[in-house]
Amino acid sequence: MKVLVVGGGGREHALAWKLAQSPRVRELHAAPGNAGIARIATCHPVAATDLPGQVRLARELGVDLVVVGPDDPLALGLVDLLQAEGIRAFGPTRAAARLEASKSFAKEVMRAAGVPTADYAVFTDYAAALAYVRARGGEVVVKADGLALGKGVFVCASVAEAEAALRALMVDRTFGAAGAKVVIEDRLTGPECSVLALCDGEDFVAFPAIQDHKRLGEGDTGPNTGGMGTYTPVPGYTAAVAREVAERILAPTLAAMRERGHPFRGCLFAGLMLTADGPKVLEFNARFGDPEAQVALPMLDMDLLDLMEAAIEGGLRGVRLRWRPGAAACVVAASAGYPGAYEKGKVIRGLDEAEAWGALVFHAGTARQGDQVVTAGGRVLGVVGRGPDLRAALGQAYRALEAIHFEGIYYRRDIGWRAL
Ligand code: AMP
Ligand code: GLY
Repeated sequence: MKVLVVGGGGREHALAWKLAQSPRVRELHAAPGNAGIARIATCHPVAATDLPGQVRLARELGVDLVVVGPDDPLALGLVDLLQAEGIRAFGPTRAAARLEASKSFAKEVMRAAGVPTADYAVFTDYAAALAYVRARGGEVVVKADGLALGKGVFVCASVAEAEAALRALMVDRTFGAAGAKVVIEDRLTGPECSVLALCDGEDFVAFPAIQDHKRLGEGDTGPNTGGMGTYTPVPGYTAAVAREVAERILAPTLAAMRERGHPFRGCLFAGLMLTADGPKVLEFNARFGDPEAQVALPMLDMDLLDLMEAAIEGGLRGVRLRWRPGAAACVVAASAGYPGAYEKGKVIRGLDEAEAWGALVFHAGTARQGDQVVTAGGRVLGVVGRGPDLRAALGQAYRALEAIHFEGIYYRRDIGWRAL
């Protein structure tokens, strides 16, 4: 089979790496890809959000399957366009991807289906939103309805903070149209984790939980990022919790989407908080997480192509997950200044030495320049260690990172601290 992976981040490198191991994948392509993906796939300079360009590329290459990595092309309807051309694609349609692209839609689906999540209200009117947070006492979470690069969420401790968030979103339009509508939720407490589930519209295969580290700084301080590191398994995510997530969250959400005429086929990502009252949904994403995929796919002991085809064709019923024993941890190396402005074009050294430690080095923002690999984004690399337990996995990742150098390299040295 010929497979095209859409996207060019660490998640897409992990997807390409896993797909390359399938005995049925004969040719692997990526668009736009990155310097790491280029070592295992043919990269094409087409942006992930260039929908006509992606469809044209898939048609010209004559691919048998397109795997869409990032949220934006899904929300824009790339899978619908490919399907209309008769090209098989892994990922939800535009209507199903609204579970991620519209937080108010996701909340409405959850409320109707009885899925545990924080109480909430939706506003398009600034004055009404202000009155609501005042009445609630300020302990709320204010969220832009639309996609905002993971940055449109404000966890507030006071009325003043909530008012500032509403002003930024609704009046100053810091996130543009994404802030025209806001969701205001009650604030929950508890540890967080991510659960990925491959879905065929009806049935699903859920992966064990993964813990992300969203904040830039050690001890979970500083600004939010796309994710600075992940690990799995997550202590406290017991078989009983996993069953509750499957029965009370994943199954009813899939049923609700099917009933609405928008069956969800693809990877459903539930961002959960493990509260004293059980797991509750903070958000849904309609794709693999980044950097969740970088630990999930190395732990998956099955052919990803088989699973993706089953998800597309409705064949996941009765499929049992095979998962490797032990633990995996991913540490993200970022450019100085990320998540703010950063410089690009810094030469990256030590990639081969890092791999010699047994680590997997997934590229995110990297590019080739002559025979060198240079930085080309905020998150640059995801270095994954594996081992019999989390300590061993982290040890391998950090040893490998010591071999890697580029000007301004920054990574958290405390990934996994909650579990340790
Ligand atoms: P989201 O993009 O909706 O997952 O929100 C980003 C982050 O905001 C989450 O990872 C949580 O840390 C926090 N958050 C979101 N919703 C809530 C909530 N209802 N209560 C407490 N924290 C939340
Ligand atoms: N790591 C969180 C996300 O992919 O949204």
